[in-house]
Amino acid sequence: MHRRSFLKGAGAVTVVVIGGGVWRAYDQGVFSVGEGSAYEPWEDWRNDSNNGPLALVRAAILAASPHNTQPWLFKVTNSSIELYIDTNRNVGALDPYLREEHIGMGCALENLMLAATANGYQAAVTFLPGKLGPIAAEPAPTLLARVDLVSGKQEGSELYDAIPRRHTNRGAYLPQKALPPEFIDSLGHLASDESEVKIFLFTAEADRKKIAEISSAANSEIYSDSEVTRGSDRWIRIHWSNVQKFRDGLTIDAAGLPPIATAVAKMMPLWMLRLASSRGPKNGYSNLMLSAPLIGIITVRDRYDQQNCLLAGRIWQRAHLLATARGVAGRPCNEAVEMIDYEKAHDRAALRAKLLGELLGDPAWQPTFVFYMGYPTLTAHASPRRPVENVVL
Ligand SMILES: Cc1cc2nc3c(=O)[nH]c(=O)nc-3n(C[C@H](O)[C@H](O)[C@H](O)COP(=O)(O)O)c2cc1C
Repeated sequence: MHRRSFLKGAGAVTVVVIGGGVWRAYDQGVFSVGEGSAYEPWEDWRNDSNNGPLALVRAAILAASPHNTQPWLFKVTNSSIELYIDTNRNVGALDPYLREEHIGMGCALENLMLAATANGYQAAVTFLPGKLGPIAAEPAPTLLARVDLVSGKQEGSELYDAIPRRHTNRGAYLPQKALPPEFIDSLGHLASDESEVKIFLFTAEADRKKIAEISSAANSEIYSDSEVTRGSDRWIRIHWSNVQKFRDGLTIDAAGLPPIATAVAKMMPLWMLRLASSRGPKNGYSNLMLSAPLIGIITVRDRYDQQNCLLAGRIWQRAHLLATARGVAGRPCNEAVEMIDYEKAHDRAALRAKLLGELLGDPAWQPTFVFYMGYPTLTAHASPRRPVENVVL
């Protein structure tokens, strides 16, 4: 079952499960949303506040990552933290250059930097230069950045406080409820200090329709490739026992369904869930995207530059935290950019780069991350996280 079908198609679930019974409900964690060891990192993330730099890692692991792959590893000393990417934790043909995994590393770096200031450190990042290439045959941890820490002024922030409340919201949004102009303005300025990253924001219906159409067509096309679905399926956690065991990946609880549909979906056997997911409403994905009054595109100078990817990730994390702090929901919708990678990897004409490029109207900026934001109709749930002990070298 592929990610987009799994995540949005489950929204079409109207099947009532007659068999199964209460035991299955317990077994599948219907009554335990957000509970168990897989969710503890959301609760105990401030436990190390007096314990040195590990507190920063506890914040970093709550960041976003593609398919919740959590590709990060950290080497921690009293005065530095090195960030490594574990290239083995990838989604295969969906992300053939690990561009998205590198963006996820940038998301973790942003949380880490916010936590540094909040924990009384002055932090300086050094990025390792590099260009992305095809996934190595023998993946190995690769150093991407080093954060040097000295004692500094302890300062909290609304973004830092929003870290444990930031969850990707895949439910429908309220189309009539516009976002406040001050919020849109702050969002648009998030990257203004960066020379390598720029955010483009779209609120006009005609523009959003274009992006939704491009994304929806990209979604259908990319997931029609069985190699892509294989790479994606590796991270889909249907069984509650696997959610608690692996503590990563995409779960039914995070799919953005109303509570009853979530409970029903969790009780379905896999074959039934697949069937329900494949029967979503026509134009379901573009309608979902269009329920949000704002679509944004994060762009960089060079989509396949390592440092540019990390910077884009930092900006997404910051944008989503800002939204969370202001009661606004957000969701990435990256199929169009994933198709840019796909077309490149398959030596095809760069159709999606052209379509998105026309929309931006500025060839100096390359799209690398697409998202939408608005006021939610449903509360988003946390996704599982591996414990800090598993990600420290
Ligand atoms: C680079 C990147 C790409 C992503 N693309 C999508 C996407 O296209 N659709 C989606 O629903 N979520 C997408 N996500 C969100 C992740 O699935 C999400 O961050 C992860 O499951 C962890 O959940 P959380 O953000 O609620 O903590 C993306 C995240 C990152 C960092």
